[in-house]
Amino acid sequence: MEILKGKTAFITGGASGIGLGIAKACAKEGMNVVIADMRKSAIDEAVSIFKENGWPVLGLELNVTDRAAYIKAADAAEAAFGHLHLLVNNAGIGCAGGPLWEVTDGETDLAVSVNLIGVLNGIQTIVPRIIAHGEGGHIVSTASKAALIPVPGCGLYNVTKSAVLGVMLTLAMDLVGTNVGASAFCPGGYNTNLGASSMEVTARLTGTEIPEMPKMEGGAFAAWDDLIRSPDDAGARVVRGVKRGDLYILTHAEFKEGYAEHAQAVLRAFPEEIPNPKYGQTFHLLTENPIFNEQKQVPALEK
Ligand SMILES: NC(=O)c1ccc[n+]([C@@H]2O[C@H](COP(=O)([O-])OP(=O)(O)OC[C@H]3O[C@@H](n4cnc5c(N)ncnc54)[C@H](O)[C@@H]3O)[C@@H](O)[C@H]2O)c1
Repeated sequence: MEILKGKTAFITGGASGIGLGIAKACAKEGMNVVIADMRKSAIDEAVSIFKENGWPVLGLELNVTDRAAYIKAADAAEAAFGHLHLLVNNAGIGCAGGPLWEVTDGETDLAVSVNLIGVLNGIQTIVPRIIAHGEGGHIVSTASKAALIPVPGCGLYNVTKSAVLGVMLTLAMDLVGTNVGASAFCPGGYNTNLGASSMEVTARLTGTEIPEMPKMEGGAFAAWDDLIRSPDDAGARVVRGVKRGDLYILTHAEFKEGYAEHAQAVLRAFPEEIPNPKYGQTFHLLTENPIFNEQKQVPALEK
């Protein structure tokens, strides 16, 4: 979607961190922005930034796991701004750590419900509306670098974010031939409120008490100030990826080598046998997919 000006973005988890970075970047492009988030206080803070800058905004309280509420939120967004064009499925939580056989049923259900079902709810609610108006659009879902190179100790997080990547490849394939694009956003480390917001969201969704979070001067990652990036960087990369129609929106060249090892491992696992040329002719839907050839080389981000 090359032209963003005058169009409308619906951004889940848009009240904080990476989602807010994306929301601000969309506003700077002249978009109307709907910030849909579970935390009212964060929505109010985010909306005040937009109002100070004179950017059109609608803040909506939404739990992305609630399908009926999602439909009402999409209706409210359309009532405010008309057609929706950009959906950013960004709401997510940090999940219980440790090996997969040690997490509880409740921790598994919560992780899958927010990080995966929340994304599917966004697609099922909003993609048909974007296709129906015919003006074109784009869907971004925030997976993680963990979908490309799993992070030790983060079992459920790796699982849910790999699933989001799978969702977006499937969506991109399903959207071929429409004027709606799809991107899997796989960010590396950004300085956000993920620790505290995940505790609050988890407590609210499980009906438990919100634990006290130690306040950390300068944010949770202050000690790695030179390595962990600001969410505005994520916003700029997502907006660029939407305009370019990138299948993958990646943030850190530092992960390239680790992913190459991942890809090489898959290639080495194919048996050293001569492929039957008739197979691809007969079952080309199984042996190739056009979405991958569309991804062009991404240049350095101009700062
Ligand atoms: N921060 C990082 O380094 C990093 C890296 C890779 C991926 N991510 C992903 O980026 C996304 C944004 O996280 P962030 O780091 O900006 O943290 P954040 O806490 O600043 O933002 C997450 C927002 O999502 C909202 N949210 C959580 N569950 C929700 C639900 N059920 N319904 C509606 N809103 C909900 C929270 O209220 C919060 O405002 C997440 O999907 C996260 O997994 C973050």
